[in-house]
Amino acid sequence: MQVTVFSGAGISAESGVPTFRDVETGLWAHVDPYEISSSHGWQTHPDRVWAWYLWRHHMMRTVDPNDAHRAVAAWEDYAQVHVVTQNVDNLHERAGSSRVHHVHGSLFEFHCDRCRSVYTDEVPDMPEALESVDPPRCRCGGLIRPDVVWFGEPLPDEAWQRSVDAVVNADLVVVVGTSSVVYPAAGLPELAVAHGTPVIEVNPERTPLSDSATLTLRETASSALPGLLQRLPALLG
Ligand code: APR
Repeated sequence: MQVTVFSGAGISAESGVPTFRDVETGLWAHVDPYEISSSHGWQTHPDRVWAWYLWRHHMMRTVDPNDAHRAVAAWEDYAQVHVVTQNVDNLHERAGSSRVHHVHGSLFEFHCDRCRSVYTDEVPDMPEALESVDPPRCRCGGLIRPDVVWFGEPLPDEAWQRSVDAVVNADLVVVVGTSSVVYPAAGLPELAVAHGTPVIEVNPERTPLSDSATLTLRETASSALPGLLQRLPALLG
């Protein structure tokens, strides 16, 4: 049996990582997302963008996977599990998931914005959110940037293709912790629905996917995921 999990910021919320759109805590609440997370922002303020990502990189070192990440990793004992995540954190990997596809990139990989060579030097820790930090320079003179997909940029080809395959070949798709509003990623659960694949949504709030999902569990990720596979016969009939 192949289970594909499609996750968003909500699965990491219970690890203490703010989601993007929760206004009172969302990361965007304090910064202009266009300026901080876009190629235009990088062209005009690379120092501010680099500072923002250094801080997020630091913050990710201070949090741990939660019961939801651990449940998804444990499912590998019962099924072939693929994780397609919009998150740039590494909490799925740290929980033990072995097939993780980052459709929006990763906070933990860096490359040169000119020659695209991979940056392997240590990234300095930064325990508080400074306004400005100059990014390192590549030998070619380019600037080192995070492997995160910015607004207006294409998604990574290989991760996207693996994600489409994981959704198309799944016997079950579990969509957890995403507002399902950012495309093309949000189109992946819709692809599963179109394929007639059972889609279970786990989210305390309604989303645009809720009406078309096979089943919607209005629960948090850490309460719904640990027992979900065992509940499938009762849930799906
Ligand atoms: N368990 C499950 N879901 C939760 C929890 C929780 N404990 N807490 C919050 N949620 C839900 C919220 O109800 C919301 O629907 O998680 C969702 C988080 O939505 P967003 O903040 O929009 O995050 P996400 O869907 O991952 O955003 C998608 O948008 O800004 C871009 O690139 C960024 O990858 C991100 C993309």
